[in-house]
Amino acid sequence: MCAVLLLCIQVEETSEVLADEAWWKHAVFYQIYPRSFKDSDNDGNGDLLGILDKLKHLVDAGVTGVWLSPIFKSPQKDAGYDISDYYSVDPLYGSIADLKRLIEEAHRLRLKIILDFVPNHTSNQHKWFIASENGEEYYKDFYVWVNGTSKKPPNNWISVFKDSAWKWSNKRQQWYLHQFLDVQPDLNYRNKDVRKALHQILIYYMDIGIDGFRVDAVPFFVEDKLLRNEPRTNKPNVQPNDPDYLNHIYTRDTDETFEVVYELREVVDNYTRLHGGDARILMTEAYSSLDKTQRYYGTYDGRRLGAHFSFNFYFVKINLNKTSSKEIRDYVETWINSLPKIYVSNWVIGNHDNSRAATRFGPKNVDGFNILVSLLPGIGVTYNGEEIGQEDGEVSFEESRDPSARNKSTFKQDSRDFERTPFQWDTTLNAGFNRGHRPWLPVSEKYHQTNLAAQKNSSSLTHYKIYREVLKKRQEPPAKYGDTNISAFSEDVLILKRSLGSSHIVLVFKFGGDKSPESERVYIPSIDCNIAKIALTNIDSDYSIGATLDPRTFVIKSHESLLLDITC
Ligand code: GLC
Ligand code: MG
Repeated sequence: MCAVLLLCIQVEETSEVLADEAWWKHAVFYQIYPRSFKDSDNDGNGDLLGILDKLKHLVDAGVTGVWLSPIFKSPQKDAGYDISDYYSVDPLYGSIADLKRLIEEAHRLRLKIILDFVPNHTSNQHKWFIASENGEEYYKDFYVWVNGTSKKPPNNWISVFKDSAWKWSNKRQQWYLHQFLDVQPDLNYRNKDVRKALHQILIYYMDIGIDGFRVDAVPFFVEDKLLRNEPRTNKPNVQPNDPDYLNHIYTRDTDETFEVVYELREVVDNYTRLHGGDARILMTEAYSSLDKTQRYYGTYDGRRLGAHFSFNFYFVKINLNKTSSKEIRDYVETWINSLPKIYVSNWVIGNHDNSRAATRFGPKNVDGFNILVSLLPGIGVTYNGEEIGQEDGEVSFEESRDPSARNKSTFKQDSRDFERTPFQWDTTLNAGFNRGHRPWLPVSEKYHQTNLAAQKNSSSLTHYKIYREVLKKRQEPPAKYGDTNISAFSEDVLILKRSLGSSHIVLVFKFGGDKSPESERVYIPSIDCNIAKIALTNIDSDYSIGATLDPRTFVIKSHESLLLDITC
């Protein structure tokens, strides 16, 4: 009896020591776009063994975990966001056995692996949809089917990829809903069996060791039951087939959709409770207003929990030429102050759906933004390539793959292929992405100048070295636990201060506005101290790391970022 009891206590203690409830709270997640990361078998497509081969890079860089864009079986009509079997890996990327190897190796290296979960829709090639379209009893209501005549869709809803969100099925003589491509039918969340089937998928992957999920297209889960027409927006110059034509009050962020997210959280929390180990986490994708984005975290009082964090896309959406440092400060303050203290902030500057940060902010601002988002409180998210300042690639209309780029006249603004070109590893053929087979998207010519190997081996400061250093800096107490103070010194100078007692880590960043002076004299407000040590700078700074300056008065030039250690 006693022996049994002792054993129990021991087991409990071990799991307490090993389990880390809060590992994600200060994490940096690195998004890998698998098809473009590393092609191990030289067929032109990146793959899981390619990722396995490069895990060392991620460890060196100092990230906590990786999120893989979808790797599941798919006809690849929307680059894998159209899944035809959630339980198998697409042959492009490898197999479940490869995934298991990857998880094992990642865990050995203390890296977490997050999968992309796409539960709003499946591919029309998924067996559920085929069965549903055939009217098979169990699957009949797996999708959103509506009666009508083939002439007129049930209402005015418009898909994210333009045109009606309804498609007529000759087979069923009914319309089905697709908020994205017509080959991506929306699942019917009012059907309990659908929700159960989706939960099973999460459990399957947690069983093989997955640490969490990025949940795709969350606002689109549950639509208005009455199928009411959506009102028009007042946006000028918008075509009637464009999603911006309508105000999506009946198809996005509905009350029931939040419930679905809270239910997903119960699934992962129950799993962790039952199986022990570190918390399995959820990160949600929603391009929603600030209050709705924060509501995906859970209720204000914390009684219902949703995502561990819901991406904060502010920095992905701003146009720096039209944004003052005051607006950035206001947004950052509003985000932090309105998020209930039980939740953790996060900062995103890029992903596979938006022009790369280095292109949007300009290559000269790469370091400033990497430092800024790494030192804001909470979780950081890096899109692969941001650590080397990779810019958008060059892709012609003929070479393009993204379905949202299908119209030649709007291709340049709509295509997401530019941010999806292969990762630039080194100066060898195809930037080291593979051994010479034509990649699925062309490698950017810029790889000769911008690549990881050069930035690792260079004797001078590089984007990569700065990225790595600032991830280390994140671990220092003021950056981890300190107070946050952000101020707008002038039109384009931001000052971010993280303070713990008398220790301050301060970023001064002049991002270079159109109308701002080339250089200006600045000071660090509310610090009564005459010496600051320069911990880090951007690559072309006039200041040297390790030198000191007087924080009461110094000069900063456009695109310069200075990270200062101040103790007083
Ligand atoms: C998300 C993905 C995007 C995809 C869409 C539809 O927004 O990030 O790439 O096209 O969902 O699944
Ligand atoms: Mg939906």
